[in-house]
Amino acid sequence: MFKRAFCFCILALALALTGGFIDGGDKKGKDKKDDPKYNNPTFVPTADEVIEKMFEMGKINKKDLIFDLGCGDNRICFMAAKKFGCRGVGIETNPVRIREAMDMFDKFNKDDAIVFGPVKLPLVETRHGDALAMKDIGDATVVVMYMFPEFMELWLPIAKAKLKPGTRILSHDYAWDYESDKTKWAPVSTAIVKSSSRDNHKVLMWVVPEKKSTKAAK
Ligand SMILES: C[S@@+](CC[C@H](N)C(=O)[O-])C[C@H]1O[C@@H](n2cnc3c(N)ncnc32)[C@H](O)[C@@H]1O
Repeated sequence: MFKRAFCFCILALALALTGGFIDGGDKKGKDKKDDPKYNNPTFVPTADEVIEKMFEMGKINKKDLIFDLGCGDNRICFMAAKKFGCRGVGIETNPVRIREAMDMFDKFNKDDAIVFGPVKLPLVETRHGDALAMKDIGDATVVVMYMFPEFMELWLPIAKAKLKPGTRILSHDYAWDYESDKTKWAPVSTAIVKSSSRDNHKVLMWVVPEKKSTKAAK
């Protein structure tokens, strides 16, 4: 009797350690389903000189709505709002960065520089979430990012399906593999920028092309 109880305890311990209980197993599966497909927490803010180059290449103006995918402290959207009076949405998975973005608001909103209207609505929004799951990405007129190519490869099909023709995409340093796969959009322009930390930042810009008509010629 004692031997059987002992064996049961060992089995229960082994199952608990390997996460094999039904509840635990289900929860694990659920968490996995909700996890972002890509979530590399590396945070290196884009240098101001590079951001200025992105603004120049993208011809950013007051009418734009900028989305920063993996926005970190969201400084790109805040800088654009202050300089052009345009709106911005930054999305970020790391709550530490979201906190920093909230501090950025105070830093940039001196003299109400980044609010509008009689009730002073903020021009910039910072969201805690997954950049690969943004339902309203199609509202963007400009998308910026400083993300590794693995992210960009995952995001390209979303861009193709949801972005409006004419939307500008600006990326710091990285691209999807357009050189070996001609079905992937090639940049329309690139530039090399010097900052105080290094002299070879790359900025790449794409413009979303018109959708090809699917109507067969009669
Ligand atoms: C290199 S930083 C770029 C920050 C900012 N865009 C800039 O250029 O200054 C990349 C950021 O993307 C965030 N990130 C990684 N995967 C993400 C995802 N799936 N959705 C949203 N943010 C993500 C990281 O936490 C990190 O803060």
